[in-house]
Amino acid sequence: MANNLLEGKKGIIFGALNDMSIAWKVAEQAYDQGAEFVLTNAPIAMRMGEINNLAEKCGDAPVIAADATSDDDLANLFDKTAEHFGGKIDFVLHSIGMSPNVRKGKHYTATNYDFYHKTMDISAMSLHRVLKTAFEKDAINEWGSVVALSYIAAQRVFPDYNDMADAKSLLESITRSFGYHYGAKRKVRINTISQSPTVTTAGSGVKGFDEFVAYAESMSPLGNAGAKECADYVISLFSDLTRYVTMQNLFHDGGFSFTGVSEEVISKFAKDE
Ligand SMILES: NC(=O)c1ccc[n+]([C@@H]2O[C@H](COP(=O)([O-])OP(=O)(O)OC[C@H]3O[C@@H](n4cnc5c(N)ncnc54)[C@H](O)[C@@H]3O)[C@@H](O)[C@H]2O)c1
Repeated sequence: MANNLLEGKKGIIFGALNDMSIAWKVAEQAYDQGAEFVLTNAPIAMRMGEINNLAEKCGDAPVIAADATSDDDLANLFDKTAEHFGGKIDFVLHSIGMSPNVRKGKHYTATNYDFYHKTMDISAMSLHRVLKTAFEKDAINEWGSVVALSYIAAQRVFPDYNDMADAKSLLESITRSFGYHYGAKRKVRINTISQSPTVTTAGSGVKGFDEFVAYAESMSPLGNAGAKECADYVISLFSDLTRYVTMQNLFHDGGFSFTGVSEEVISKFAKDE
């Protein structure tokens, strides 16, 4: 459904690893809606070259490598992007997450603090770095929009989500704090979308993920929200239709976050008469 909602808008999309990635779907949708953008990911994530297929499908979008934990890489990314477009951008998607503790199966109570630092740096502080770089370079137009992806483990305990829960809490806090300053000084808005569990490379790293997707499905009146629908929501936040939405954590989860229990789940506890 192309309505040219992003016609004339320019941006940067972080985190398209493969065609399951939420960022991949956002790029496809943004292109369909008339946007132009630069694609970026960590250098190591580009070695399979899949991002180049996406770039080709999106009007030969430039691909610029940047490790989101490197200030130098981010400065280079924003400089090259400004050069390419000959000016400022209108939107940024931060779709980045990784926990070495999750990857290496370290239990939350036995965390490795070097890994923990990395989790925070990659999954949360990177948003601050992106915003600081953009702010200092005055890289985003007034009424521009930055969206990052979060998960409800920031508010409620999901035991196997491990230190990513702490990272998402920090990510949402940075969204509020930077959202205040960027809004007051430059009228740029910053929000997180708290997405249903979604089958992607990052999502599938979480222990017991398949059971968990099934549980969330049975606890959501509308069912789990997919990656494509998440992209639709992101597009609405990049568009001019949501200009006064900022500093929010917006649930995109089929109603999961406000469901105490569903009939489907409670029926599993029914005693045989
Ligand atoms: N899949 C889910 O169930 C789910 C649910 C809610 C929120 N999210 C969030 O959505 C976002 C996107 O994840 P996804 O599910 O599409 O998985 P994904 O694995 O496709 O995307 C994660 C991306 O982070 C990138 N990345 C990792 N380290 C980086 C670094 N140092 N610098 C730059 N990029 C780096 C990876 O290369 C990858 O492209 C993440 O923030 C994730 O936590 C995912």
